[in-house]
Amino acid sequence: MNDRPPAAHKDLAGRTLLVGVCGGIAAYKCAEVVSTMRQAGADVHVIMTEAAQRFVTPLTFQALSNNDVHTDMFGTGTAWEIAHIGLVRKTDAFLVLNATANTLAKLAHGIADNLLTTCVLATRKPVLIAPAMNTQMLEAAATQENIRTLHERGMFFIEPGAGFLACGEVGQGRLADPDTIVSAVEQVVRRAHELDGLRVMITAGPTREFLDPSRFLSNPSTGRMGFAMAAEAHARGAEVTVICGPTELRPPASVHVVRVTTAREMQAAVMEHLPGTAIFVGAAAVADFRPAQFAPSKVRKADAASTLVLERNPDVIAQVAERKPPGCFIVGFAAETDDAEQHAREKLLAKKLDCIVTNRIAIGGGAFGASDNEVVVLWGTDGREALPRASKPAVAAAIWDRIMALRPSRGRPVTT
Ligand code: CTP
Repeated sequence: MNDRPPAAHKDLAGRTLLVGVCGGIAAYKCAEVVSTMRQAGADVHVIMTEAAQRFVTPLTFQALSNNDVHTDMFGTGTAWEIAHIGLVRKTDAFLVLNATANTLAKLAHGIADNLLTTCVLATRKPVLIAPAMNTQMLEAAATQENIRTLHERGMFFIEPGAGFLACGEVGQGRLADPDTIVSAVEQVVRRAHELDGLRVMITAGPTREFLDPSRFLSNPSTGRMGFAMAAEAHARGAEVTVICGPTELRPPASVHVVRVTTAREMQAAVMEHLPGTAIFVGAAAVADFRPAQFAPSKVRKADAASTLVLERNPDVIAQVAERKPPGCFIVGFAAETDDAEQHAREKLLAKKLDCIVTNRIAIGGGAFGASDNEVVVLWGTDGREALPRASKPAVAAAIWDRIMALRPSRGRPVTT
């Protein structure tokens, strides 16, 4: 079934992997994935849904994984209960294969009605999902929304490929190639401990600067990029604190969130949490100015001045650079409309940052609020990496790869 030499996917050797198999015609391809991971030296444990067992028997996965296959939530009594909690705890990654529209919907809504969905809900380990379904079901608004929700919560997606589908149609929805899937697991497992024991602080979202209780100055930032950076940092093992301005988006699970409204509140929260921070990421769109006067009661338009007097807000990231703990690595974001790289490089130098991520913004478009992004990372006097347009979680992963390459591994601040 697999003619790779045993040295392939060597970062999987000695890892424990949980694999959930859903019901669908591609269930047979999951067998190859399990076999490849076992040959790479991983201890693979398989959970099958009832529907999956209609396509492939548990015996196939038992033989390929050399472990018992788990199919039932209630059948095996306390032994299983203890074993499944133990497995969820000790697994390095959880791979959901052949994920159907139905399972995606359950996972997105926290439904735990079988062993697979229960275990995904119970895990804090990285979860990778490889969907497979009919093109129309994949493209359905509900499925796309569920994928986006799970993506934003920090789950990794292995994009389905295009081709001939079992339903007779040609389109996107085929389970990704076994080798692509195993490589994705290997990459997640390799990255999973990169930031172990390190504190990462991330600012995200806009700030609001009130004139009176009913009016404020702000910008269209939603926090999506900052949250993607936070989810990825958490997936790599960091202890993550997000200082977040007002947003409707839900922050990723398992990160510490501090909600603020104004730039000055963001500054105070950042300074309070700065000791022990190893990496600071300023992804917030901090309002540069605030109204000089705040009226505690609503100002009637008849009484309002037609000119607004403003005061400068503190520059949060510049202050972090001045007061940073020894060895702290500082990453800025630049929101630009024109001459993006030139302006961003000026900010990099002026604010004494280690690197800066340049985003393009535009009225009604650009990076603000979008689900994807295209950025250029700049560092030093001429360091530059242009990242291809991708979903914000994928862009966040590429930015973290760049941070890991730039950041000296020495100089971890002593955590307090
Ligand atoms: N930033 C900050 N505090 C501010 C303004 C910006 O911490 N008061 C941070 C942002 O989080 C980002 C970086 O500085 O990491 C650059 O932000 P940007 O808005 O692009 O630039 P500004 O410094 O505000 O400059 P300008 O508005 O003139 O482009």
